[in-house]
Amino acid sequence: MRIAVTRRIPEAGLGLLDEVVDVSLWEGVLPPSREELLALAEGADGLLTLLTDRVDGALLDRLPTVRVVSNFAVGFDNIDVPACTARGVAVCITPDVLTETTADFAFALLLAVARQVKESANSVPAGRWQTWEPLGFLGHDVFGATLGIVGMGRIGRAVARRSQGFDMRILYTDRGEQAGEGPEPLAKRVDLDTLLRESDFVSLHVPLTAETRGMIGRREFESMKRSAILINTARGPVVDTEVLADALDSGVIWGAGLDVTDPEPLPATHRLLRLPQVIVTPHVASATEATRARMAELAARNALAVLHGETPPRCVNPEVLEHARG
Ligand code: GLV
Repeated sequence: MRIAVTRRIPEAGLGLLDEVVDVSLWEGVLPPSREELLALAEGADGLLTLLTDRVDGALLDRLPTVRVVSNFAVGFDNIDVPACTARGVAVCITPDVLTETTADFAFALLLAVARQVKESANSVPAGRWQTWEPLGFLGHDVFGATLGIVGMGRIGRAVARRSQGFDMRILYTDRGEQAGEGPEPLAKRVDLDTLLRESDFVSLHVPLTAETRGMIGRREFESMKRSAILINTARGPVVDTEVLADALDSGVIWGAGLDVTDPEPLPATHRLLRLPQVIVTPHVASATEATRARMAELAARNALAVLHGETPPRCVNPEVLEHARG
């Protein structure tokens, strides 16, 4: 059996695969083009993909031997799941193992933007630190502020837990059924308008779907406080990037911490990067050695389980497992 792996991932995953199957590894730093991916995966039984690899029906039709697409990510908006299901291809992901690490990073962005860490740190090597300034780098208090969590899933909850150490009040929205009290004692479920109106920080934790694409646009920014800070560690297209840049430029909101952007990569010349109260990081929220190793291991286990006719730990479309391809 053979698995095509679209980028070098930690040994914790590659090693597991190597022990039992042949591996075709894309060694490039950049994602393979469609033709390169087709050449890499021709005749393979499975794909181990990244969020930068588009997997759709047209690709699978040219790779009829593929039975599993194991994504090295919790998000799977890069994969057309109905197209996979229609072809009996299992789609697997890596939830849980990256929850806490991603929440740490969301909180790191929140703190860094609120307290002007980027601007104040940059001022030192630039030679602008002349003295202690009563009016220099004034940011916003995090403790006691209101945190709006859009999407109270695994990562949203982990962010909520961290906010308790800062005595924050939590408002949240969620697609789930249950109303009323949230996962944390001080969390209150509200509608999006209320959350945007009342929050000092708005942190996004929704998957990218047809419903969430562009969900934070002009109307939403205008509902927010002028002192508000937006944190996005979910997916770039949940926010309208140009409208966000306008809102920051014209003071409609105060700041933003973005680990994800639309497009990715964000061009180095993008006007967002010139705004002092904006921190953009290159989609690294899950990037710790331990977490990436856990993701690699889970992605490998998912793929191997499907190929061995076992139940994979984390399958998005388990209905295909009963009627496995081939
Ligand atoms: C990263 O963005 C992931 O979905 O794991």
